[in-house]
Amino acid sequence: MTAGCDSRFDARPNGLDRLDDLPQNGNVGQNGNVGVQAVAGGSALDQRLRDLINAEGLRGDPSLGRQLPSINDPLAQLGMRLFFTKSLGGDNDTACASCHHPAFGGGDALALPVGTHANVPDLLGPGRHFLDGPPPVPRNSPTVFNLGLWDRGLFWDSRVESLGGEPGQNGAASGIRTPDVALGAADIDAGETLAEAQARFPVTSVEEMRGVTFEAGSSNNAVRSHLAARLGNFGVGQGELPTNAWVAEFRAAFNEPAARAEELVTYSNIALAMGEYERSMTFTTTPWNRYVAGDLGAISEQAKQGAEIFFRPANQGGAGCASCHSGDTFTDEQHHVLGFPQIGPGKGDGNNGTDDFGRARETGNADERWHFRTPSLLNVALTAPYGHAGAYASLNDVLAHYNNPDGRVDNYFDDAEWCDQPQFQGVAGCEQLYPDGRQHTNRAINQLEREQQAGTHNLSRRINLNGNRRAAVVAFLRTLTDECAADPTCRSAWIPPTDGGPDGNQLVPTGQDGAPLQ
Ligand code: HEC
Ligand code: HEC
Repeated sequence: MTAGCDSRFDARPNGLDRLDDLPQNGNVGQNGNVGVQAVAGGSALDQRLRDLINAEGLRGDPSLGRQLPSINDPLAQLGMRLFFTKSLGGDNDTACASCHHPAFGGGDALALPVGTHANVPDLLGPGRHFLDGPPPVPRNSPTVFNLGLWDRGLFWDSRVESLGGEPGQNGAASGIRTPDVALGAADIDAGETLAEAQARFPVTSVEEMRGVTFEAGSSNNAVRSHLAARLGNFGVGQGELPTNAWVAEFRAAFNEPAARAEELVTYSNIALAMGEYERSMTFTTTPWNRYVAGDLGAISEQAKQGAEIFFRPANQGGAGCASCHSGDTFTDEQHHVLGFPQIGPGKGDGNNGTDDFGRARETGNADERWHFRTPSLLNVALTAPYGHAGAYASLNDVLAHYNNPDGRVDNYFDDAEWCDQPQFQGVAGCEQLYPDGRQHTNRAINQLEREQQAGTHNLSRRINLNGNRRAAVVAFLRTLTDECAADPTCRSAWIPPTDGGPDGNQLVPTGQDGAPLQ
């Protein structure tokens, strides 16, 4: 089940604390999101896994007990339309969905995204190119699936960050910090959820959505106000859209039939609706959760072996993955250095400005250089390529890195491996694209080794992920895929009908082969 739209959970917001009223006999509820403490029967491996599951405190479905909207809610529906309109791009050529599409697991299937000025604006995934050079956006596009499960921060460096609040509510009672304000300060315009706070930013990025000329030199707020006026058809944006039915859509969704466009079609309300759409993307019904709930046949033997390696600490023969990919969301929401290859234009850091210092960019703490937020591993099989710069094409590549970071990175740059990814195929001079990459990555690897020596890093130097063990962990990671997310018919609820949308400028995505993405 998706979307947290099951009334049982809506009626029981404190469900997370109520282990005692859950069945103890492996009886899986209709949603498969029921946790159990002990399961009768099963092999020795099942018993060992049960101990690890209990030690980790896993419950199964992490959306249990959260207040998350349904995709059928009017605001989420409006948000979906907004998420898919290219009219929020300064040059009317890029939508949020250009880089975050349900058919690509909520990402874009590229190492590095292409926003404005693409060869074919409606072509998504491999085959999408930036007309003015190599991909201009410096970081991999993360999934927007399960956005409502993040409590601490969004972006690879958590620069949209909760300043503290109720856990489990994807909000922040003490406010939300954003790049519009100083570290530690609350942004009074951020809204109540991390999702809506984040949705204020992509439209202000020149490479992602804004373009070079739109409101050039203006403040972020001027960009937002102009876009709101464009959609609301007033002031500076009046007449910018040839067709425009947004005001009626907003009046219906906000249930404000008499509201004036200027008051209703604000950027805050745009961000609110898009945030509700993203928070409706709950994709947590996985074979793994069924296994946790007691269905011992839900995953294969190989996946169980992989799970044991994943959860068992390194000093007990496992790989200790759950020390960072912890809990039912598979993330501690903290930042760590792993030394995944640095490719792309970088964020202006280090030599030539082509490095990306990650979390240290926000905190100014040099010890946090190259630290990135631990990604959730839910639906990870759907979201290749991997890492903050999308350097690794497959899960196998990622695991080879964990096995031997130093050696893996050397091979990566020896072979200019990014050139093997579909995005870079046929790009002239591909091997020469990222001449500083090796140096930057080696500095990150040195930081990793320093932390390991100091005993402050969660990744053990002695893990074994060779051969069968690696294949087993990959098999386990594949059990974290939501059945609806992997099913075009089911996930179509999060894709608007191809009727052009309220302004006739809706993104109608196709793949490289010209077939509609679904
Ligand atoms: C050009 C591609 C592109 C477009 C267009 C785009 N994004 Fe993103 N998105 C990214 C990238 C890249 C990141 C990661 C940036 C970073 O961490 O510094 C990101 C991060 C996010 C995140 C944070 C996810 C997480 O796990 O932390 C959310 C949410 C999101 N985008 C929503 C949106 C919305 C809403 C829009 C439209 C208003 C949008 N994006 C438009 C590429 C894009
Ligand atoms: C020290 C904390 C830590 C440990 C231990 C750890 N990870 Fe990670 N993992 C991260 C961080 C941080 C990233 C992002 C790194 C980057 O992009 O630079 C990541 C990225 C990943 C990715 C790529 C996900 C994506 O969406 O791009 C996968 C897959 C992954 N880890 C699986 C594992 C597995 C399997 C293990 C055990 C062998 C493991 N991790 C151990 C913190 C950790």
